[in-house]
Formats: sequence, structure tokens, C-alpha cells
Amino acid sequence: MTPHLSLAALADPARRKDLAHILKQAKSVVAITGAGVSAESGISTFRGAGGYWEKFRAEDLASPRGFTKDPELVWRWYNERRIAILNSQPNPGHFALAALEKAFPSFLLVTQNVDGFHGQAGSEKMVEIHGSIWELRCTREGKIWTDRQIFETLPVYCACGALARPNVLWFGEAYNPNLFHQAQQAASRADLILVAGTSGMVWIVAGLLQAHYQHQSQGQVIEINLEASDLTPEVDLLLQGPSGQILPLILALLKNEDQT
Ligand code: APR
Repeated sequence: MTPHLSLAALADPARRKDLAHILKQAKSVVAITGAGVSAESGISTFRGAGGYWEKFRAEDLASPRGFTKDPELVWRWYNERRIAILNSQPNPGHFALAALEKAFPSFLLVTQNVDGFHGQAGSEKMVEIHGSIWELRCTREGKIWTDRQIFETLPVYCACGALARPNVLWFGEAYNPNLFHQAQQAASRADLILVAGTSGMVWIVAGLLQAHYQHQSQGQVIEINLEASDLTPEVDLLLQGPSGQILPLILALLKNEDQT
């Protein structure tokens, strides 16, 4: 049974000392994030109570077939998400991860999130493995550009007259091989993996952990989540609580700044 440490348990100095020791040993770190890291910025997650997939069918909104069937519906959904993100901002979890990037000799953030909050918070060593909601791609030319406006007219078209689509990964599409290789290489070399705010329901997280386990018998995988997830049985430790509180605590422990 994977050990769980709640925020309350982390108030115990002995437990903080143990966690700080694990963190300070790490030389090469990969952080993998999901929608839960943006939840405290007020952005809906996909699964669980109130999540997008509780109200909509993922296949209708986040798939090539759904887009072909009703591009306006898909653009309406992405435009609403863009508005929600523009009306929000990164939370302490995002800023802590941007600081953690500089706290280890080697660090890579692999995010499933497309909201851009990690970049806004200052993360630079980052792979947006599911793309960016702020990028558009021409469905005819494949040209990619950034556009942060709220679109008044939907669906959105490229200047060439063809439909534009959000440059994000949809169900049934292949991962960008370069981004996947970069993430997989980092995971296989990491001696510490932090997995925060993800249900692990989409293959990429399990795939990266598998790459890690195949190469690192002594590595540590620490999960940060409100609750146990599909990943929990295969990680070394679950830090149970909001990532917006736990990630800053991890940073504080690493820098000996935790005031117990
Ligand atoms: N702190 C930590 N974890 C949280 C918080 C929080 N404040 N709020 C929610 N969570 C956890 C939930 O318990 C859940 O395990 O975040 C996770 C969110 O899971 P999902 O909604 O499935 O989101 P994610 O794992 O990112 O989904 C992966 O699926 O639909 C696709 O492309 C989409 O990138 C997405 C992928």
C-alpha cells in the first residue's frame, strides 16, 4: 500500500525532515502536471465532480471527428475555456514549480495542461505535451500561430480560407514525437518524479512512469493529489492535498524555509 501523507501529517517535523531528505537527494527531476494544478486557479478539471467530461462527451469536443462534425460547437467550447483562463491567473502551485525548475541541477516540467499558466508563472524548461489553447493550426496548410484574442465569430478560419483548429492534442491523435521523446528521455533519467494534479487516465503519464521504472530502480515517484488516483498504487508516496499548498511546501522544504 502506497504511503499517504496528508497536509496535516506534513505538519509533523519528523515527516517533513524525511521528505526534505528525499527532495535534497534528487539531482534530475521531472514534474508531470495535469488539470488539478490549475483547479485552484478556478479552471475546471476534466474528470471528477464538475469536470468537463461530466457535462460533455470528450469525443464530441476534443476529437478530429467531433471537430469535423461541428467545428462551431468545438470552437465555442475552446473560446469559453480561453475566456475562463484569461479571467484567471496562475496559482501558488504554478509559481512553486517555476521556482523548483531552478532548485535542481536538472529539471523538466511535462504538462498535460494547455492553459499556459506554467509559462505565465515563469516555467521555461517545459514541454506542453498536449499543446496550447493559445495556438491555432490551419487545417489545410498546417501553419501554426499564436492568438490570444476572444473570437467574436466562430468557427475560426485561417487567412487562406480553411478552418483553423486549436493546436492541442485530441483523443485519437498521436503525440508529437519530438515532445514525447524529450519527455521520455527526461523521465528515464530522473531520480525524482513529481506527479501533480492528474488522474493518470490518459496514457502519457503511465507511459512516462514506465520509462522511468525501466531505467531507475532507485528513483522516487511522489504524487500530489487531492485524492488517490489510478497512479497511486505505483508511486512511492502520495502527498494528499491541494497542489497549490503542497508544491510551495516542497519548495520551502528544499530551501530549508519551512516554518513548522
Ligand atoms: N490539487 C491537486 N490535485 C487536484 C486538485 C488540486 N487542487 N484538484 C483536482 N485535483 C486532481 C483530481 O483529484 C484528479 O485526479 O486532479 C486530477 C484531475 O484529473 P483530470 O480531470 O482527469 O485531468 P488530467 O489528469 O489533467 O486529464 C488528462 O485528459 O481529457 C484529457 O487532454 C485532457 O490533458 C487532459 C488529460
